[in-house]
Amino acid sequence: MTIHIGAKPGEIAKTVLMPGDPYRAKWAAETFLDDVKLVNEVRGMLGFTGTWKGHRVTIQGSGMGMPSLSIYANELIRDYGAKTLIRIGSCGAMQDHVGIRDVILAMSASSISTPSLGFFKEVNYAPTADFRLLMKAYRAAEEKGVTTHTGNIYSADVFYAERPDLDEMMERHGVLAVEMEAAELYTVAARHGCRALAVLTVSDHLKTKEALPSEEREQSFGDMVEIALEAAFG
Ligand code: HPA
Repeated sequence: MTIHIGAKPGEIAKTVLMPGDPYRAKWAAETFLDDVKLVNEVRGMLGFTGTWKGHRVTIQGSGMGMPSLSIYANELIRDYGAKTLIRIGSCGAMQDHVGIRDVILAMSASSISTPSLGFFKEVNYAPTADFRLLMKAYRAAEEKGVTTHTGNIYSADVFYAERPDLDEMMERHGVLAVEMEAAELYTVAARHGCRALAVLTVSDHLKTKEALPSEEREQSFGDMVEIALEAAFG
């Protein structure tokens, strides 16, 4: 047990998928895994361990935003020995050529700040995905026929932003989409010699204001879970 995770030693797999929403962790575990066991419910941040094609995997909610994700990523790695952490979540598209339902593979994650910012002092660290995970996720997405974009994303501190100039600056520099967790996940994983990737589904578009209809969310999010599992084990 840690402060925020109630799992017993050995109940967390080496590979962990991390959706922001704990109920999405429940849905993904029940939909894609066999022999599912609830391993964490501290603060309602549900975590489940099961198997996928014989491989042990944990799906643990991270909560929203980098400070919350940072707590879970640190404890999963330092206390439970997790080695591969894949965020599965939603994002808002920032480019005209990126559409609703598309999958974003975050090669790198820009930010204004992360909880790790203070560690780096004058260094402008570049949080980066594990290349092998990224490559395997890309292949899995191609095989599924899912429209995929691979590149830089923006991990924001606020959902309700007040800086349209920032969005415009990101767009001009080719940033594909905005979410709120990946930059810290990549940084914490790197610090501990672990592998990380964020596989994201576009749920809304910042420019067109389009949003994924709720009845279509499940199928789109399902593709993302399978891509993440293929990246880890395929
Ligand atoms: N901003 C931040 N995070 C998000 C968004 C957004 O527009 N959409 C999905 N996650």
